[in-house]
Amino acid sequence: MSNKIQFTPNPSIAAACIQPFHVMKILGEAKALEATGKPVIHMEIGEPDFASLPCVHQAASKAAEQGFTHYTPTMGLPALREKLADFYHNFYHAKVDACNIMITPGSSSALQVVLTALINPGDKVVLTDPAYPCNRQFVNLLHGELLAIPVSHETQYQLNLEQLKTHWQKGIKVVMVASPANPTGTIIEQPELMAMANFLAEKNAYFIVDEIYQGLVYDRPAESILANNALPDNVIVINSFSKFFGMTGWRLGWTVAPSHLIPILDRLGQNLFLAAPTPSQYGALQVLEKDALAELEVRRQTFEKRRNTLYNAMQKASFTLKTLPQGAFYLYWDISEYSQDSQAFCSELLNETGVAITPGKDFGDFNANTHVRLAYTTDETQLIKAVHLIKQFIDSKRNK
Ligand SMILES: Cc1ncc(COP(=O)(O)O)c(C=O)c1O
Repeated sequence: MSNKIQFTPNPSIAAACIQPFHVMKILGEAKALEATGKPVIHMEIGEPDFASLPCVHQAASKAAEQGFTHYTPTMGLPALREKLADFYHNFYHAKVDACNIMITPGSSSALQVVLTALINPGDKVVLTDPAYPCNRQFVNLLHGELLAIPVSHETQYQLNLEQLKTHWQKGIKVVMVASPANPTGTIIEQPELMAMANFLAEKNAYFIVDEIYQGLVYDRPAESILANNALPDNVIVINSFSKFFGMTGWRLGWTVAPSHLIPILDRLGQNLFLAAPTPSQYGALQVLEKDALAELEVRRQTFEKRRNTLYNAMQKASFTLKTLPQGAFYLYWDISEYSQDSQAFCSELLNETGVAITPGKDFGDFNANTHVRLAYTTDETQLIKAVHLIKQFIDSKRNK
């Protein structure tokens, strides 16, 4: 007989409330389908299909060989913080002090550390519906109160000053936006962003601007709110080496925060993650060099071509498209003409055609059943094939 003592599982309520990331379910199903030998076109995953640059690999392994495998300071390698400050100066004409930059393990940790620094239980946090899903979970973990503002194609799926004013209520402590955004790829113009920042400063609320898709914009130059003069001290920028820099697996991001928050972020970082991965930080030093940035620009152009190819192919297939995404690598598509259940639509589409896309459910509640996200993180031939297969799938459903 075993003498193991009986234990009753009792994990936290907060953990039990955390929602799964539904895209992982689709990804699991897609992988299972592939394992049966069926070809799958992956348009569900939100990461570049390109590998990270060889210069990153070389710099990281050289650092490791030289023994740079210990913790860096919590705020990050001083050389990397300086280099990012130069990067802002050179590319965005933004005056950013290295002291205001904190390097984090992915922007996920930047979001977590910043939200922990700001939210008291019961504080209201405004975000869009749809939005990047994890933000809602971070707020839940801190016992903040979510105020999700529904946004549609009418405002490019973004928040604006007018909406903020309309929805304003007592107790709002933080407003979060992303530009370009996930899942919609749309942006907020700089004058609008600044007007929102100023309105929130007057209301004594913080403004978190997620710029993690910053370099990936099309038909227009990349921008940062940090380039604006007279930026109020409520603005916090989130950024990452994951997307434009193609380093998802290296887990490296950063935040630019006002000086009053820096000692708090430092203390929180010391406890929450100690430091970002050291070899990754050495790799990132190289990815900010001129030659690497030139290679990344070629990749950006590839994403731009893919966006155009996907958009044009969908238009040719007579699909109604309500917005042309200006950045990131996503197209958020209203499928209400074909389905009222985006989850079932994605599952059936995957099983019948091998095209994997993400249901709107991951990104919120508002019209989530009638929206899907297509990621153009695969080549143009595959994108054209995918649209063809989607068209066939829809036609066959109509004829049933
Ligand atoms: C808008 C947005 N913010 C933050 C993240 C987190 O990315 P990472 O932790 O890789 O920097 C993602 C990832 O997809 C995202 O889409």
